[in-house]
Amino acid sequence: MQRFGLIGFPLSHSFSQKYFTEKFVELGLTDYVYENFSLENIEELFTVLKDPSLRGFNITIPYKKQVIPFLSGSSDVVSKIGACNCIQINDGQLTGYNTDVVGFEQSLVPFLKPNHSKALVFGTGGASAAVVFVLEKLNIPFQFVSRSVSDKVIPYEKIDESILSTHHLLINTTPLGMYPNIEECPDIPYDLLGPQHHLYDLIYNPAQTKFLEKGALQGASTQNGQEMLILQAEESWRIWNS
Ligand SMILES: NC(=O)c1ccc[n+]([C@@H]2O[C@H](COP(=O)([O-])OP(=O)(O)OC[C@H]3O[C@@H](n4cnc5c(N)ncnc54)[C@H](OP(=O)(O)O)[C@@H]3O)[C@@H](O)[C@H]2O)c1
Repeated sequence: MQRFGLIGFPLSHSFSQKYFTEKFVELGLTDYVYENFSLENIEELFTVLKDPSLRGFNITIPYKKQVIPFLSGSSDVVSKIGACNCIQINDGQLTGYNTDVVGFEQSLVPFLKPNHSKALVFGTGGASAAVVFVLEKLNIPFQFVSRSVSDKVIPYEKIDESILSTHHLLINTTPLGMYPNIEECPDIPYDLLGPQHHLYDLIYNPAQTKFLEKGALQGASTQNGQEMLILQAEESWRIWNS
């Protein structure tokens, strides 16, 4: 038996379990399984790791940072951003990777136009760290927007015409608008958006969040987190087989 899985809490529904289970069927990998491990605290990971057939697993909210002390080694990205969403196990040694970075970069690049030269990033959590890692790599200066203000971030109320006239790439890394709270969205002046703006929402459920709907009404181009989700899963699969 070759075992893979996802740790997080709560894990009410999991894209990954369905995705990998279908993949194993398609590939005829009858002794492969992908399970959800709903852990109430990270200490419970010790029990999961006792299974010698576990070859790798993904990590979601709230353990992307808390899992790092379990690692014997990590990719440069994990060392830099301090968030890990994929672990490969070899001879009982855990190596950490961040496949969100790969998924975000590969999904964003085809949409980029020359005017998308500055970005606003809503939220400062784990996914935001992966997003800004990619923006730095692509040489796109960014401004964090957050509920808690500091020298590096601005509050939502500060977003005005002058900021939106220079920042044409808007990325939502907050859970605002995620099912079941589908009426929520980042509090920005949507009437100032236009066709020059590109809105990227990391949320994939619903497919069109309020954020994307309001942007599209102003003529902005939009994309949701579905492609990123698939790309990060495929990158995990590549790592587990490498
Ligand atoms: N498509 C994909 O492959 C993919 C991958 C990873 C994550 N995601 C999605 O990205 C979202 C965030 O995930 P995450 O792991 O980064 O979560 P997280 O670490 O909890 O961070 C979310 C951030 O959103 C902001 N936030 C939270 N509640 C808010 C509220 N009520 N109003 C305004 N801002 C709020 C906070 O930033 P401030 O405190 O700075 O405001 C928080 O740090 C989730 O919806 C997740 O499903 C998608």
